[in-house]
Amino acid sequence: MRFDVITLFPDMFSVVRDLGVTGRAHRREQWALQLWNPRDFTQDVHRTVDDRPYGGGPGMVMMAEPLEKAVTAAQSARPDSPEVILLSPAGKPFTQNRAQALAHSQGAILICGRYEGLDQRFINRCVTEEISLGDFVLSGGEIPALAVMDSVIRLLPGVLNDADSARQDSFNEDLTGLLDSPHYTRPEVYESESVPAELLSGHHANIAQWRRRQSLKITAQRRPDLIEAARRNGLLSKVDEAFLKTLLF
Ligand SMILES: C[S@@+](CC[C@H](N)C(=O)[O-])C[C@H]1O[C@@H](n2cnc3c(N)ncnc32)[C@H](O)[C@@H]1O
Repeated sequence: MRFDVITLFPDMFSVVRDLGVTGRAHRREQWALQLWNPRDFTQDVHRTVDDRPYGGGPGMVMMAEPLEKAVTAAQSARPDSPEVILLSPAGKPFTQNRAQALAHSQGAILICGRYEGLDQRFINRCVTEEISLGDFVLSGGEIPALAVMDSVIRLLPGVLNDADSARQDSFNEDLTGLLDSPHYTRPEVYESESVPAELLSGHHANIAQWRRRQSLKITAQRRPDLIEAARRNGLLSKVDEAFLKTLLF
């Protein structure tokens, strides 16, 4: 797995390269990172990467040529032809399914926009996919790129200590696409609130049933769309459906 990132702020990527589980996986060479700064592909003394927008209006626009040269350099440095992904509010919303698909690929070239955006001709010529982190606007594509990389790298085999851990996260197959149930750790009583009795019972079937019911309840309350999707995909059992009928909101 290798990520090539086109960014004006390469320092931001030390977070995913050096820290936490992604940092450990990088040190173990389970994934590689190459950073490309469009400023290194400019000709002028000021290393200009942006200019005023045609048609007027506020802000600046990233110029096509330094971006395309950076992408070409990244492509030449790889043996494969990965997706060239632009992080953009206009992209397809990022999902766990997309993270899983990327975790089965060789990686990607990620483009981080800044300013008002990028010259559309660069997007037309070089970008194969646009991904959005959600319906809000950030100052740049670096944080969305970090989020995409983190979500993909933690799915790579051997990156998490417990192989089951990612499968039991929200949106994943073990939870049939639903939200995760609540978690508790010691102490058994905190500020006079106890851990639910089922989790202390040591009875595996009861614990599994409690977790499944919590998962169904939280998902029905907060994300009924995920319940509908699981139902459409035939992932809800008769027992699940019977429990859902008992919930009154
Ligand atoms: C200030 S934003 C530009 C916003 C753009 N003018 C618009 O209204 O859609 C600068 C860059 O941040 C990145 N960005 C901002 N919000 C994002 C989001 N929700 N998802 C992915 N990338 C985002 C994109 O790369 C974008 O080019």
